[in-house]
Amino acid sequence: MTEAAGIEFTRVRVVAGDRLLLSIPALQLTEPRITVIGPNGGGKSTLLQLINGLVEPTEGFVSVDGHDTVDHGRAVRQSAGFVFSSPAAQLVMPTPLEDVELSLRRTVRDSSARRAAATQCLTELGIADLADRSSQELSSGQQQLVALATVLVLKPRILLLDEPTTLLDLINARRFIQQVEALGQRQKITTITATHDLDLAARADRTLLVQGGRIVADGPPERVIGTYRQHSTV
Ligand SMILES: Nc1ncnc2c1ncn2[C@@H]1O[C@H](COP(=O)(O)OP(=O)(O)O)[C@@H](O)[C@H]1O
Ligand SMILES: [Mg+2]
Repeated sequence: MTEAAGIEFTRVRVVAGDRLLLSIPALQLTEPRITVIGPNGGGKSTLLQLINGLVEPTEGFVSVDGHDTVDHGRAVRQSAGFVFSSPAAQLVMPTPLEDVELSLRRTVRDSSARRAAATQCLTELGIADLADRSSQELSSGQQQLVALATVLVLKPRILLLDEPTTLLDLINARRFIQQVEALGQRQKITTITATHDLDLAARADRTLLVQGGRIVADGPPERVIGTYRQHSTV
């Protein structure tokens, strides 16, 4: 185990049957805002899921702040929270407040403390008014903010966002991005965002282009997005 803060991939390969899904010989991620772009099926989700142990490497290692994602899965999942593109997948309780409380079931034993923390989290995201509404009846934009709350309430250091705005209209997508960016600055959260929205992809310190299970470009967003555009001419 190293003391390094950050995410490190070492000789990672993910194989399903006889198919190579992802191969990353060496990668270190330390920048506060990282975006991941590339074609459908390129390996973006696999890369994000490796970071919090939702996918385990077939070969090699991934570590988060020195913790191996397989050997220390629980610790890693506490510091790296995952938001799926479909909020419905993340909301299982009748109301937003109950879903956010559910996230705290392991870490906060006292139910009134749980309620207070959940309420505070919803308030910080500007959605306290949704606390007791029916989650199923919320708009996709509102549901995505609630999904974000269920992850943020655990105070992760790293936020993994897998196409978080794909199902949102422009206004809700902008609101979501604003909230995430404000949080990143306020609470020093590192965000790693997979997206097809190239305007969103450009708002980063570093961008990875993942294609055919490999990182084919890595660097400043404008340059990597330019490479992606060149690869995508029809
Ligand atoms: N559990 C799995 N078993 C087999 N193949 C998978 C699995 N998950 C993803 N894949 C395949 O891995 C490749 C990369 O997928 P994914 O990481 O979801 O790409 P992206 O997020 O860029 O669209 C795709 O070809 C996909 O079909
Ligand atoms: Mg994906």
